[in-house]
Amino acid sequence: MSLDPFPWYRSMRESQPVYFDTENQFWHVFKYEDASSILNDPATFSSEVFQRLATEEEKKQATAEPSILNLDPPRHRQLRSLVTQAFTPRTVANLTPRISEIVNEYLDRVIDQGRMDIIADLAYPLPVIVIAELLGIPTQDRDLFKHWSDTIVSLRREEAIQAGREMNEYLKQVTEQRRKAPRDDLISKLLAAEVEGQKLSEGELLSFYGLLLVAGNETTTNLIGNAIICFDEHPEAIERLRAQPDLLSGAIEEVLRYRSPVQRLVRVTTTDTTLGGHKIKAGQLVSPWLGSANRDEAQFPNPDTFDISRAPNRHLAFGHGIHFCVGAPLSRLEARVALGSMLARFGEIKRDRAHPLERIPAASAFFGVQKLPITFS
Ligand code: HEM
Repeated sequence: MSLDPFPWYRSMRESQPVYFDTENQFWHVFKYEDASSILNDPATFSSEVFQRLATEEEKKQATAEPSILNLDPPRHRQLRSLVTQAFTPRTVANLTPRISEIVNEYLDRVIDQGRMDIIADLAYPLPVIVIAELLGIPTQDRDLFKHWSDTIVSLRREEAIQAGREMNEYLKQVTEQRRKAPRDDLISKLLAAEVEGQKLSEGELLSFYGLLLVAGNETTTNLIGNAIICFDEHPEAIERLRAQPDLLSGAIEEVLRYRSPVQRLVRVTTTDTTLGGHKIKAGQLVSPWLGSANRDEAQFPNPDTFDISRAPNRHLAFGHGIHFCVGAPLSRLEARVALGSMLARFGEIKRDRAHPLERIPAASAFFGVQKLPITFS
């Protein structure tokens, strides 16, 4: 998928908003209303895609337990409330000074050079460090984490599996240490959390860590990168933000809508159903395209206009319904601190056009660029 899928989305919304790809036996859904109705109906559109479609052989080979992302109620509800007990808005808000410190350390390193790669020099390391610290990973092991999460999202399958195993082993050891001697960190809080007399099993803990480390990081990196691309394309937005820094939160919401870091989700039908006048059989894969729903003219007036004071802005970038992103407050905070500090410390910011933008190669759901060199005065 290219860096500009938006004209294609528009033509799909106009001509085939609910489209069946016969070759891959996959339904694609492009309108806001249809996408949100799928996400609102987990009983019909299940998140247990692997469990429902994998062969017995594939199930035997699975190395991890499903995380909350891939579970339906009632198990989803139980696990999610365990997780949200440990991951409260206060835990996140308390991170603000530390996130500022990390961002400023990274900006200090480049400030005299007048240039940086937004991805490598800030947007990539920031969420990895924040989540590693939140979990309670010792500082000296941070580089290991960067290496593992990098390898896991790469498309190098063998290496990715190996990195996943190493990370699990490491996290198992840290979990054992925290079980014996709890600290004020997320691993200890997850160990203590209990709902209806139940705790997270070791396998559930490990898949939750994996979800935080992989899904949470890549997406936040792309949010920060995509914001810089939007600002570069719309210099007037930067001018307004400099004059009125309190517009930044709304601007980040608009980036989430306009260049959504997650472009599509996947569900599987549990029964025969209908959507947009089409009959969908039980057991079929259905993909709501968030990136298209967020540009739907029926929901957003002038959807292709980047408007940092757009209101209302009920985008679906963090999903919708019972699986709404647990990390939304954290990624919003990281983006606010990173972009706010850049605006405060840098003069004119320009993308270095000698380097054409290249999309990340990761699974086509994620939307962002590999490298984003900029110059600043
Ligand atoms: C779920 C997007 C950052 C943790 C989701 C979903 C989306 C999403 C679309 C719903 C998936 C579905 O319904 O199938 C994003 C975006 C992010 C971001 C765009 C950054 C800009 C994070 C971060 C964390 C995180 C930083 C954690 C540190 C989670 C978890 C879920 C989730 C645990 C599963 C919730 C559930 O199944 O109940 N995210 N995410 N996300 N996200 Fe995020």
